[in-house]
Amino acid sequence: MIETFRRQTLFAQACVKDILKPGDSAVDGTVGTGEDTVFLAQCVGPKGKVYGFDIQKAALEEAQENIRKNAVETPIQLICDGHQHMGNYPKLSEDSDIGAVMFNLGYWPDGDQSVTTQADTTLAALKQSVRLIRPGGIVSVIAYSHSAGQDEKEQIDQWVGHLDHHYDTYCFEVKNHNHAPTVYLILKKERP
Ligand SMILES: C[S@@+](CC[C@H](N)C(=O)[O-])C[C@H]1O[C@@H](n2cnc3c(N)ncnc32)[C@H](O)[C@@H]1O
Repeated sequence: MIETFRRQTLFAQACVKDILKPGDSAVDGTVGTGEDTVFLAQCVGPKGKVYGFDIQKAALEEAQENIRKNAVETPIQLICDGHQHMGNYPKLSEDSDIGAVMFNLGYWPDGDQSVTTQADTTLAALKQSVRLIRPGGIVSVIAYSHSAGQDEKEQIDQWVGHLDHHYDTYCFEVKNHNHAPTVYLILKKERP
């Protein structure tokens, strides 16, 4: 358990796994190498559905290879577009079974590090995500406080702190390391 706590990606996955059920739908808002995409597919199983967004075609190609290697049977739709446009995709925006949306912000380490998530588009995507998840669903966000991520993290912090009573929001951070990633969890209540 402590190892899970120490690695933010594992911690976010453990929380999401607790919520997702076979047959659910899920969204990976930042596909990158596709680790979370594969993880989400394994959680929802062959009867579920996964949608994944990334603005870099090369990242999606690597993710596709990762999906193939893991012999995933879940239908996965990889979309080369910004997560801020998720509401424009009718299959996704009309899907009432979305149990989780995951974001691992920042840049794709194997690619162009100047292509990084941005505060305004991330917030636009988060606002849509909390609306799209089913009651009892979860949005997880790993935010970084390196120079490009600092403003983004501060804006997310403000926003999650003021979400209305339909949600419970949590923030997990390492108190004595200035630059450790922060995990935000947003849980939609079953009943407001
Ligand atoms: C930290 S990486 C994601 C890591 C990924 N979860 C993995 O397992 O490899 C962040 C990703 O967000 C992507 N990205 C940046 N801005 C985006 C946007 N507006 N919409 C969707 N993806 C975006 C980047 O291209 C990059 O691949």
